[in-house]
Amino acid sequence: MTSVRVERLYKIFGPQPTELVRRLEAGADQQELNAAGATAAVVDASFDVKEGETFVVMGLSGSGKSTLIRMLNGLLTPTSGSVLVDDEDITGMSAAALRAMRQQKMSMVFQHFALFPHRTVLDNAGYGLQIRGASKPEIAEQAREALNMVGLEGWEDRYPQQLSGGMRQRVGLARALAAQTDVLLMDEAFSALDPLIKREMQDQLLNLNAKLAKTIIFITHDLNEAMRLGDRIAMMRAGRIVQIGTAEQILNEPADDYVATFVKDVDRSRVLTAASIAEPPGTAPPDGEPVPADTPMKDLFVRMSARAAPVPVVDEQQRVIGVVTPAAVFEALCREARVPGAAPAIEEASDV
Ligand SMILES: Nc1ncnc2c1ncn2[C@@H]1O[C@H](COP(=O)(O)OP(=O)(O)OP(=O)(O)O)[C@@H](O)[C@H]1O
Ligand SMILES: [Mg+2]
Repeated sequence: MTSVRVERLYKIFGPQPTELVRRLEAGADQQELNAAGATAAVVDASFDVKEGETFVVMGLSGSGKSTLIRMLNGLLTPTSGSVLVDDEDITGMSAAALRAMRQQKMSMVFQHFALFPHRTVLDNAGYGLQIRGASKPEIAEQAREALNMVGLEGWEDRYPQQLSGGMRQRVGLARALAAQTDVLLMDEAFSALDPLIKREMQDQLLNLNAKLAKTIIFITHDLNEAMRLGDRIAMMRAGRIVQIGTAEQILNEPADDYVATFVKDVDRSRVLTAASIAEPPGTAPPDGEPVPADTPMKDLFVRMSARAAPVPVVDEQQRVIGVVTPAAVFEALCREARVPGAAPAIEEASDV
């Protein structure tokens, strides 16, 4: 499996970029760079993506997400800093070596599908294998298998313009899967899709990855999507990573006002779980049917409505790890903005 590590990465667009990195290190801000006719697209980014992890990069338009992801596979050269793929720094590699690295280790899924209009669905899905020089039968077999994985069996001989947006995006995903790289880079891959199809694609990615266990670096500006998909989330603001954490950490301890603003729009009931609001079990945990640690807030609410008593929370080994009280569930629901299907009293309370 492939690991990806980024150390003190900078990308400056404009004149004298290296000098401007020095000025940024000395404390210059974005305005100063703009005055010099430059843009600091990525500033001092460091992180480590573990094998098999889904790492989401999240931020407003222009915060530097695409620039960052394009430096990970060498489509853009960093102004300074390093990108380590399997502990090898790719920043000094030749164009040919970078191409080979991408073909063997990293596939990318783009927001606007990037399909070839005059190639069939099968040929589009097999493109990565073709440029790698795979044999025709091998390309056809792996492309077919990838298309089956994304639910496009039977569409092999069609052309992209005969497909809906969601189906085109599936072809894009199949192309990346067919290449059988350990790492998938996905830049706003689902952002152009309407909400229902987007959700379906998220489900499909989660299901697929439960089997394939790829390392995924996923870019989005949709925090609900980030929280559904990400093991960890990096929040970017004006080129800088201002926080890296799990969905719960980002929700419960936003690093600054920028992150807090994103968090305000999140459907907390989907993200908060029994474990996140459990209190210490004490010496005598309550009896009653225990709930699993990952029980979502909405299910807890239903449970609490039926029987307003504290319940024990258990981990996968059925060990009691805490207690959830009706008051804690109520409070968690009141803190969130929208609770679809919740009682009116709670919706009103949530507006306070
Ligand atoms: N080739 C380029 N030349 C000059 N400036 C650029 C270039 N590419 C990006 N930028 C600038 O760098 C900043 C970051 O852009 P980037 O595309 O990485 O943002 P983003 O977070 O992906 O935004 P979006 O959500 O809109 O895709 C922006 O200010 C952008 O204008
Ligand atoms: Mg972008």
